[in-house]
Amino acid sequence: MTLTLASAGESHGPALVAIVGGLPAGLLLDREAIDADLRRRQEGYGRSPRQQIETDRVEVLAGLRHGRTLGTPLALVVRNVDHKNWTWGMAPWPPEGEPAGKGVKAVTLPRPGHADLPGVLKYGHDDVRNALERASARHTAVQVAAGSVAKALLGTIGIEVHGTTVDEEGLRRRVDEARAARDTVGGIVEVRVTGVPPGLGSYASKEDRLDARLAFALMGIQAVKGVEIGDGFAVAGLFGSAAHDEIRVDRRRDTNHAGGIEAGISNGEEIVVRAAMKPLPTLMKPLGSVDLATGEAAQALVERSDVAAVEALAVVAEAAVAWELARTAKEKFGGDAVGDFVAAHRAYVERIAWS
Ligand SMILES: Cc1cc2nc3c(=O)[nH]c(=O)nc-3n(C[C@H](O)[C@H](O)[C@H](O)COP(=O)(O)O)c2cc1C
Repeated sequence: MTLTLASAGESHGPALVAIVGGLPAGLLLDREAIDADLRRRQEGYGRSPRQQIETDRVEVLAGLRHGRTLGTPLALVVRNVDHKNWTWGMAPWPPEGEPAGKGVKAVTLPRPGHADLPGVLKYGHDDVRNALERASARHTAVQVAAGSVAKALLGTIGIEVHGTTVDEEGLRRRVDEARAARDTVGGIVEVRVTGVPPGLGSYASKEDRLDARLAFALMGIQAVKGVEIGDGFAVAGLFGSAAHDEIRVDRRRDTNHAGGIEAGISNGEEIVVRAAMKPLPTLMKPLGSVDLATGEAAQALVERSDVAAVEALAVVAEAAVAWELARTAKEKFGGDAVGDFVAAHRAYVERIAWS
């Protein structure tokens, strides 16, 4: 069974929910480790006061007994503490005896760069909130929880995943500058994966390519506008002799321009991927927009928002890469019980004599 992930939840709704399917039974999960990842996602220079309202913690409603997976769907929940301020505005049901939406002011000033305008046009909403609540990156919280579970599975076969920002010092300076100007910034994050044997992914079809799968996983995160594998865009300007990684007799490489992936398959070197994040689109000094209620020119909505979320993106990107690698590894090694998964990995690395 392949790993599956379904999620639901609005930014100010009661909770975020994820259902993880296809996990082998017997996998030991560490609540502290999942909560630590959730905390990392909330930290970082340039975040908004929302992060002080929320203290994300994972709740497990199904699929786990005494810390070990049962081989059944794992149900993860992260509550939105801020929902208490939105019990009326984001009530799933109209409050008892009241007409739906009474007293709730519709948002009609779409922000450029957000889901606001295309979202209301597509779904026929007359309140921008109906689009922005789900489009918000708030639900990356539950994706980070699922990524943490994926890291636990990968850990059983010695694979480790780490996300960081690129150029931390410069980032802080730019955040200070942007905050003073009531503006926002983006940035670049990098995810490195160690312990991956050659052979994850395939050249057989584009759906199987590990590079394509990682790019899909990263582009699926809000505000990611570019993905690089290894030297990425820079290789376009190099000669071939400088762009490829010579093979030693022990089948390892001294360089890693390919970022650990050749022909859509891991080659045993460290996997290195980068994602570029656009500057956040909610601006305290808003851009021009239209009031959808009147059709008049107006300034876009100003709502509490981060100046930057690049450090948070590093954690979300780590989770996305871990998830996709765990999915690929589960397809290759299978296993209904975690011991089967580990044994299949061991048999495989023995066959290719890889250590
Ligand atoms: C971790 C994280 C936090 C974010 N926080 C904010 C925020 O506070 N304000 C904002 O305007 N956008 C924020 N974004 C970006 C928006 O969610 C995103 O730009 C928007 O949904 C439009 O999607 P797109 O940029 O993928 O086109 C965040 C993104 C991530 C990954």
